[in-house]
Amino acid sequence: MRILALGDVIGPAAVEYLTANLNAWRKQYSIDFTAVNAENASFLAGISPDAAQRLLAAGADVLTGGNHTMQTRTVFPMLDGDSRILRPINFPAEVPGYGSSVLTSAAGVRVLVINAMGNAFIEPVLDNPFPYIERALAREKGNYDVAMLDFHAEATGEKLAVAHAFDGRLSAMWGTHTHVPTADAQVLPRGTGYVTDLGATAPTGGILGVRADIICERFRRKIPVPYKPAEGPVRAEGAVFDIDEKTGACRSVTRVSL
Ligand SMILES: [Fe+2]
Repeated sequence: MRILALGDVIGPAAVEYLTANLNAWRKQYSIDFTAVNAENASFLAGISPDAAQRLLAAGADVLTGGNHTMQTRTVFPMLDGDSRILRPINFPAEVPGYGSSVLTSAAGVRVLVINAMGNAFIEPVLDNPFPYIERALAREKGNYDVAMLDFHAEATGEKLAVAHAFDGRLSAMWGTHTHVPTADAQVLPRGTGYVTDLGATAPTGGILGVRADIICERFRRKIPVPYKPAEGPVRAEGAVFDIDEKTGACRSVTRVSL
């Protein structure tokens, strides 16, 4: 099976872009399952129910989250009621929503999707993600054919540590959150397809999806300036994982910039 994973969707223009193009890309790359990190779909303020509905209707099979997911409270009922929308699994248990779910691809492959958040240089500082990922794999044992993980984290070393710790037990793992794609797409020794960060689905020309002059002003003068979305054409960064669904091993990982 072929999985398309796309990096952090930032703002309405990026939602619009996926709505217009995602189904065509699915056909072009013979994609069976699409995972989209959507924690910033409402531009650095989480994901609204409307944005979530639009991304799912556009062809996303699962929407993963991160440190911004819980900022829009109107999405809480959807987090509890729709297993296609995840928030990091290592949030406190009383927080709405779930951090993993088993979904079925159009071809009938059972896909366990896990979403977890790192601890280094990112807030809120959640519980250690390792035991949560371990427990999700154990809990769903026998219920899935392939497992994948969106690890939302800042530090490259932490992402690589999780990848090597779970190598061979995940078919695919990718990092999100930095909004900058990394050039290290690879199949790890025991068969997990991996890339440290997918990048973002965002307007180009700014800084991590935000208008460049605003970020420069914040760094230069150290005074708060409200964020506004970058302008310019949108680009979607991500990766395609080619997976043998019989063994769960990844055959290849290819970066895409769409
Ligand atoms: Fe994030």
